[in-house]
Amino acid sequence: MKTIKCVGILTSGGDSPGMNAAIRAVTRTAIFNGLKVKGIMRGFKGLIDDEILDFKTNNVSNIIQQGGTILKTARSKEFETKEGRRRAHETMLRHKMDALVIIGGDGSLTGARIFASEFDIPIVGIPGTIDNDLYGTDTTIGYDTALNTIMWAVDRLRDTASSHERLFFVEVMGRNAGFLALNGAIATGCEAAIIPEIATEVDQLADLIENGFRKDKNSSIVLVAESEVTGGAMGMAARVKKEYPQFDSRVTILGHIQRGGSPTAYDRIVASRMGRAAVEALLDGQRNVMIGLDDETLVHVPFSQAIRDDKPIDRDLLKTVRILSI
Ligand code: F6P
Repeated sequence: MKTIKCVGILTSGGDSPGMNAAIRAVTRTAIFNGLKVKGIMRGFKGLIDDEILDFKTNNVSNIIQQGGTILKTARSKEFETKEGRRRAHETMLRHKMDALVIIGGDGSLTGARIFASEFDIPIVGIPGTIDNDLYGTDTTIGYDTALNTIMWAVDRLRDTASSHERLFFVEVMGRNAGFLALNGAIATGCEAAIIPEIATEVDQLADLIENGFRKDKNSSIVLVAESEVTGGAMGMAARVKKEYPQFDSRVTILGHIQRGGSPTAYDRIVASRMGRAAVEALLDGQRNVMIGLDDETLVHVPFSQAIRDDKPIDRDLLKTVRILSI
């Protein structure tokens, strides 16, 4: 096996709070172990276009508290082509990069997996996404901060919802997953979470209304996970207007505000631990794995597992929402 002397690092896909803490940890652990570090700008796009910086310890000073990613990020269509990946590999050879650390979500790790197998490149992934939808890890970097942002926003909505005695549908992100909606609902005392995972099994809106919703409450807030299958918050409000016109509903879509802000202590700690673990995994000869967190222990999850799109939600949490909202 070829000795690793130089590692490239990039962030890809949707940014998430804590990515900078991970970049810092990867850079410093690599330098601590005598490796050179190349910062790759704008994800796979920058790897194709040769946007490479030499990273020293001070390139990552004072970033642990910053949201976003100092390396910038992108969703590269070109990297989905064989020609794009060939050019990306040429950049790696030109800059003598022997290995990569990729910080990103499902799409980024899918690209990393293909790239690693085509060119036999050692790659380790770090789960960076607010969606928490990667398999084999209890949490992803940015998820906790996004939950706290949702909590901040919904607490404010509660004031106006209760003053006007209104029903609010609040749409949260999550791509096709309901983790943010479900745990966001518990953290804010919401009346329900409407999530894609059970959308084909039950009519969650009818269920909510038929189960005594708003009987003696003066406001109701329902978190709705964005998704085609739930129809999102707008879809719910449209249904209420048609099927339950006695309710006066309002919609708030939290959108990209959920991706910003200074990372929480938890996200910074997880990102720092995972960043260090990623470099040590490469030095130990690990390839094509994502660093995960299983019950507070760092684990290596093969890419093929991590990108499975059926990470299960804990259904018992739905019951918690229901019991606590009576
Ligand atoms: O994967 C992170 C995420 O924020 C999803 O929750 C959301 O569906 C998507 O990215 C939005 O992507 P974009 O920023 O490209 O609109």
